[in-house]
Amino acid sequence: MKKITSILLLACSCQFLISCAPNQESEDTKNNYMKASDTHSFAKPEEAVVSHLSWDANVNFELNKILATATLTIKTSSEAKQLVLDTKDLKINSVMNGNNEVLNFVVGKAQPHLGAPLTIDITPKTKNIVITYETSEEAEALQWLEPSQTTDKSYPFLFTQSQAILARSWIPIQDSPGIRFTYDAQVKVPSELLALMSASNPTEKNESGIYNFEMKQAIPAYLMALAVGDIQFSSLGERSGVYAEPSVLEKSAAEFEDLEKMISAAEELYGPYRWDRYDIIVLPSSFPFGGMENPRLTFATPTILAGDKSLTSLVAHELAHSWSGNLVTNANWNDFWLNEGFTVYFEYRIMEAVYGRGYSEMLALLSLQDLKTEIADMKAAGNFKDTSLKLDLTGRNPDDGMTSIAYDKGYFFLRLMEETVGREKWDAFLKNYFTSNSFKTMTTEQFIENLQTNLFDAYQLEIAPTFYEAWIYTPGLPDNCPVPVSDKFENVDQAAVTWAANQSKEELQAAYGSDDWTTHEWLRFVKGLPDSLSTEQMTNLDQAFGFTTTGNSEIFDLWGVHVIANQYEPAYEQLESFLVNTGRRKFLMPLYKAFVKTPEGTEMAKEIYTKARPNYHFVASSSIDELLGL
Ligand code: BES
Ligand code: ZN
Repeated sequence: MKKITSILLLACSCQFLISCAPNQESEDTKNNYMKASDTHSFAKPEEAVVSHLSWDANVNFELNKILATATLTIKTSSEAKQLVLDTKDLKINSVMNGNNEVLNFVVGKAQPHLGAPLTIDITPKTKNIVITYETSEEAEALQWLEPSQTTDKSYPFLFTQSQAILARSWIPIQDSPGIRFTYDAQVKVPSELLALMSASNPTEKNESGIYNFEMKQAIPAYLMALAVGDIQFSSLGERSGVYAEPSVLEKSAAEFEDLEKMISAAEELYGPYRWDRYDIIVLPSSFPFGGMENPRLTFATPTILAGDKSLTSLVAHELAHSWSGNLVTNANWNDFWLNEGFTVYFEYRIMEAVYGRGYSEMLALLSLQDLKTEIADMKAAGNFKDTSLKLDLTGRNPDDGMTSIAYDKGYFFLRLMEETVGREKWDAFLKNYFTSNSFKTMTTEQFIENLQTNLFDAYQLEIAPTFYEAWIYTPGLPDNCPVPVSDKFENVDQAAVTWAANQSKEELQAAYGSDDWTTHEWLRFVKGLPDSLSTEQMTNLDQAFGFTTTGNSEIFDLWGVHVIANQYEPAYEQLESFLVNTGRRKFLMPLYKAFVKTPEGTEMAKEIYTKARPNYHFVASSSIDELLGL
């Protein structure tokens, strides 16, 4: 508790400083940024801060480069001498001010993960900075796909992945979640391709190959996004639709048919959707994440196209980020749980509203299982410290914070809040939290203050003094973690015991209704299988339930771990094809980790990886390189 009290005191004394400051406006800005300094950015926003980006870009598929001009509008303090931007592997050709006068600039020494600061000489009067530059072939955010690496195999494709700190590899910008700006863009692409951004978007190609974009709401750099390819659009409702390569457009539209219902459910819960349209693009399979909440245009993996809508909680998740993350944004990557924990909580509430409590409780139980495994694994790996919600990622890759702690422990903390004060008060608090902090950044400490004042104090509710300390600043899982309830999962768990005893498919069907199990019941079943299974048991399972040939990527991924651990050869071909054709890191890591447990497995992993690596985005290949010691 001591830590929190002193943090809160510090926050209060900053406020005190503001009220005594001579130059109110610039001091306000200064203190706002001081509260949340970001060790993953070189920016010095208290001196000069970007407020708008005007981006003019030429996407060159022959060179695999973007050639661009970034015109930045900046706000300066009264003593401003320099504007500091983040860059990574950018070639800066020229820097001018708004009057076409050349400005001095220096690209500093590159640092691991962070890239290099671009420091530009300015005066307090400088309003615009015009930077002409090109990206490098190593640009980590960008993945340039050959036609053969796309779904339809006819045209090249480019997509970006900026979160956490890769925006700087394609735009010279202040790449910190605490700094927001609006943007407009003009992007030129080959005329047979369509360009889309995290902004207002076209729905059709035009002959010029020139597309214009506008993002009127201020966003942090990690939400900058671009996709270019042979992309078509299909409308899903008044304000939503889906983009995809032609061959998967129809399937995608069918998969997301409940999207409008999800948007309405979300608004009903926590207030109006603030970004006008909500569209989804289904990317080629090398997209390294399940989804990415780029504003107005969620980027999604094709691995959620299960054909039965069973994996679309991912869409609810990315949609939920339109509030948690995109409206109220973690001030820096140590507060990442504020983005993801809130979003998982909100995701399950949306799923509950659209598909019922039984559905969302299955999701929550799967989360709890993953969380417990993750905590145990991290403890064994000597990373127990990183199992607290508030992280210290200074000097490290912010990607290290992308564990299920932020997601699932964050979720259970918020669920505990709900269960403690009751849903009515909790929902009122949350709605107000999103509304009053829209387009702002949030630190963990500010959130605690907010929670204490607007929930506990406002309703005169008691909270144990050790509560925040235990949940937010202490590793591990506190004893008072809520436990979701699911009859369906109890049934599955009993079925698993029966199966272990007699391997009878018929009994599973007759006594446990396995023919009618949904994806999540199967996930529970496969997750519960013992680590070590004989070839006979693996064969029985596969013959009974067809795991090797399932079209469901989540189920296959869990099954794949058993395939590797138990050297179940009949599934090797399918497994290799999955590894070569899927770039989603969450699926790849457990499989490669299972391989490296034995020397033979490691050999096999390396062999497959040689073929697969060209299909992976930097985000995935860098993690696997590390795992395989390459
Ligand atoms: N914003 C994240 C993805 C991310 C996090 C990218 C950190 C880079 C750094 C996104 O919203 C996310 O959480 N995706 C999950 C979806 C899942 C939790 C439903 C994924 O990709 O698996
Ligand atoms: Zn997320």
